[in-house]
Amino acid sequence: MNIHIKNNVYWVGKTDWELRKFHGDEYSTHKGSTYNSYLIKEDKIVLIDTVWKPFAKEFVENLQKEVDLKKIDYIITNHAEIDHSGALTALMRHIPDTPVCCTANGVKSIKGHHHKDWNLKVVKTGDKLSLGAKELIFIEAPMLHWPDTMFCYLSGDNILFSNDGFGQHLASEYMFNDLVDQNELFVEALKYYANILTPFSPMVLKKIKEILSMNLPVDYICPSHGVIWRKDPSRIIKKYLEWADNYQENQISLVYDSMWDNTRIMAESIIQGIKQADEIVNVKMYNISKSDKNDVIQEIFKSKAVLFGSSTINNGILSGMAGLLEEVRGLKFKNKKAASFGSYGWSGESVPMLNDFVKKAGFELKNEGIKVNWTPDEDARKLCVEFGKNFATSVK
Ligand code: FEO
Repeated sequence: MNIHIKNNVYWVGKTDWELRKFHGDEYSTHKGSTYNSYLIKEDKIVLIDTVWKPFAKEFVENLQKEVDLKKIDYIITNHAEIDHSGALTALMRHIPDTPVCCTANGVKSIKGHHHKDWNLKVVKTGDKLSLGAKELIFIEAPMLHWPDTMFCYLSGDNILFSNDGFGQHLASEYMFNDLVDQNELFVEALKYYANILTPFSPMVLKKIKEILSMNLPVDYICPSHGVIWRKDPSRIIKKYLEWADNYQENQISLVYDSMWDNTRIMAESIIQGIKQADEIVNVKMYNISKSDKNDVIQEIFKSKAVLFGSSTINNGILSGMAGLLEEVRGLKFKNKKAASFGSYGWSGESVPMLNDFVKKAGFELKNEGIKVNWTPDEDARKLCVEFGKNFATSVK
């Protein structure tokens, strides 16, 4: 199914209703996703991006119904990660000489993925491609989120094709932002930002300011995943400016794992203490072994402070927490405070190990943490309550 977007611009992508894991097991996609490819039929005909490789055959067949492939003048590869360039090999079998426009780094990623000697045309920020009455303007956007990434802008129709930027993993029969559930849309957009773009926030701020300074009117933002922003696209731009600027809400999250409930009992007592503090704060608690990792990361993104807990096992921490912390480290969160807690039977390394992880991940460690030997008794629970109260006060 193709979708008319505006004038001579069409969506020719793929809706993947069943996708539940993306990037291997790295990203949960409860609502599916889309791989957005766009066809512009001006005097010149241009295809922007393709779809993920498993859908290559379907994509090419569908595209053939919309246009004679031999009439495509240019293919634009805004970013060659395989969810967008995956169908290039199948497409280029039909039109091997068609120029493919990409950044200098795009040459590396396209060749790296496809190992073909196609007619790759390197473009830079400010370069223009005349389509007749309208033109495409290229804007390099390195590290949003790969070194090869670029955006392009269609004059006349005022459409920014932003690739992964402003995307969401959200499959919908309604491909426009004004037609979908607003809460669901912004939850998925924030989850996408938190899990994919957080490490690149300084570049996000810089790139948005650069684009705004170009004074290009933006009526539509067409990302490579999820719905198209056509009604007041400035809303998502404003959200990105907030999210990229060390975003936080008045929230404390507790994330823990527990072998025999002892660390969970500590977590419950710590929450009691946080609630007793003078400052009112939203508190959320997650057992990582029972929670979706990417949903938890979304909550960490929103939090001003996080408490990490783990029992001690084999002189270390539970593997669920270790996996989460490795991902948290890579996301380079800024301006967040933290502390650690955990129960132990014999050696008790979990808390110092969590402290170490937390510091390396860039959190401000507020104290040495709290550990409890064996099952927390009444006195230990009181200490945990006090710990929670003091922590909430220290991060207000
Ligand atoms: Fe949606 Fe970076 O690929």
